[in-house]
Amino acid sequence: MKDKKIILSGIQPTGTFTLGNYIGAVRNWTKLQEEYDCIYMIANMHAITVRQDPAALRKNTANAYALILACGIDPEKSIAFIQSHNRCHAEMNWVLSCSTQFGELSRMTQFKAKAEKHPDDINAGLFTYPVLMAGDILLYQSDLVPVGADQKQHLELTRDIAQRFNQKYGELFTIPEPYIGETGARVMSLQDPTSKMSKSDDNPNACIFILEDKDTIIRKFRRAITDSDTCVRYAEGKDGINNLMTIYSAVTNKSYDEIEREFDGKGYGDFKTAVGEAVADHLAPVRDNFARLAADKAYLEKCWTEGAQKAESIARRTLSKAYRKVGFN
Ligand code: TYM
Repeated sequence: MKDKKIILSGIQPTGTFTLGNYIGAVRNWTKLQEEYDCIYMIANMHAITVRQDPAALRKNTANAYALILACGIDPEKSIAFIQSHNRCHAEMNWVLSCSTQFGELSRMTQFKAKAEKHPDDINAGLFTYPVLMAGDILLYQSDLVPVGADQKQHLELTRDIAQRFNQKYGELFTIPEPYIGETGARVMSLQDPTSKMSKSDDNPNACIFILEDKDTIIRKFRRAITDSDTCVRYAEGKDGINNLMTIYSAVTNKSYDEIEREFDGKGYGDFKTAVGEAVADHLAPVRDNFARLAADKAYLEKCWTEGAQKAESIARRTLSKAYRKVGFN
């Protein structure tokens, strides 16, 4: 019997994290490590499903690793590693691919969106990406997977693949549950609050990157698209204000009622500046930690090497069992 539940999650190293990555996922990762056995991964194998400059990917991967530590992941408490350092992920991907249907992968909305965005590179990896992700989760017998709402469909597919494998070959995989935070599971674009905040947005004002300086962050919030009402309140049809209230609530822990009271009689301008300041102040320690950690290559390498060893020793056990179950000699 395991004494603590197992948590696994991952993030792609494609540039600096956005405020969406932070509020929707990484912020929860740091809280969970106090209570659970946590495993966190820089998903560089996922990143090559879209074209990457190799030198930039190498640098971004190291920076993403430094950044999860800067956000509070403690490599003494949690296992923190880089996906490609543990070959079990590639091997499990193959086994699970043979228990995944073409039809289910065709229904993945993220595949459809990315295929539309990169029509000249609809590669097989982009299509089978959710299988690699299922392997990431199932290799560690994970109970809970903290993610933003956009990953929910991939989690549902992971559960289907695990259940199908268990039925076909006999019990092996723990069936994981998504862990989606109540507030901030879907941080929206500052320029179009009906679509998700995303690092690939063409408009630089749409997205906050967590290492941006205070002035830039405040300026972007001041330019955020809202509505023609003037009252700060959470209500249907006020997508821009709702998004700003969600962000403000996530970084200050204030409830929507408290926020409405705080800005009673004040205009949107005051509110936007306050959100920008609260976000920038909240992220200031992350920026400082990152500057210190990113400069210490030896420490980072030590952490990710040890992390990969620990991750592999867990994953290898599950992979060996899966190999036996499917009939490999
Ligand atoms: P990625 O790198 O796109 O995003 C990392 C995490 O950030 C969340 N997120 C958001 N949350 C709220 N609002 C937003 N605007 C927003 N944008 C991103 C994502 O939901 C995610 O939790 N496939 C995954 C990485 C991955 C993974 C895994 C996750 C690989 N293997 C295994 C969990 C378990 C991805 O591309 O996330």
